[in-house]
Amino acid sequence: MEEKLLLLRPDERLIAQYEDYKRDFLAAGDSMDGAGPLRRSSDGRDWLARLRLYEDPATLPEGLVLATQYILVRESDGRLLGMLQLRHDLNDYLLKYAGHIGYSVRPSERRKGYAKRMLAMGLDEARKLGLTRVLITCSTENEASRRTILANGGVFENTAWEPDDKEMLERYWIEL
Ligand SMILES: CC(C)(COP(=O)(O)OP(=O)(O)OC[C@H]1O[C@@H](n2cnc3c(N)ncnc32)[C@H](O)[C@@H]1OP(=O)(O)O)[C@@H](O)C(=O)NCCC(=O)NCCS
Repeated sequence: MEEKLLLLRPDERLIAQYEDYKRDFLAAGDSMDGAGPLRRSSDGRDWLARLRLYEDPATLPEGLVLATQYILVRESDGRLLGMLQLRHDLNDYLLKYAGHIGYSVRPSERRKGYAKRMLAMGLDEARKLGLTRVLITCSTENEASRRTILANGGVFENTAWEPDDKEMLERYWIEL
């Protein structure tokens, strides 16, 4: 039987695991996609406080769009497996490069199908929000992310050069 996975909103209960997740990514030298401000947060509590700013129009930093943070947790042992951020709209930068959804799975839990399942659950949340299609992008070098998008119905639109990170991105749309 398939393991039960939960896509949850982060709260204080898993506070120690957020810092642990960040440490894993720093140790692996990996990009913390779909984790919002985790990289620049001083600890788990600071991360939660920063996330709240993105979820309320009254506190949303200038130029950003509302975004909801999710975490993927394995029910059997409560382990934090992945993170996914759902942006409610596209601004110019998101339309060109970053899309509606970003995600990551912790290095020690990869290649178990978790990203594919997490994205499917994230798409359900996007549907609940009223979105009818979402944009997801990945680096041309990122085979795992490309396969995750394709497995969830991604339709390739084009590639775009992202000047800040200096990488070529593939842009995919998923109809909801
Ligand atoms: C991309 C990422 C989320 C994939 O997570 P994952 O849980 O290992 O992915 P899954 O196990 O669900 O596998 C998804 C697909 O990618 C394939 N895959 C996974 N890792 C792979 C790798 N290293 N090389 C090639 N293919 C890989 C799987 O075989 C599967 O494809 P399939 O269904 O055609 O067999 C993870 O590698 C990650 O967090 N990377 C760093 C952050 C990142 O790149 N995020 C995406 C930004 S666009």
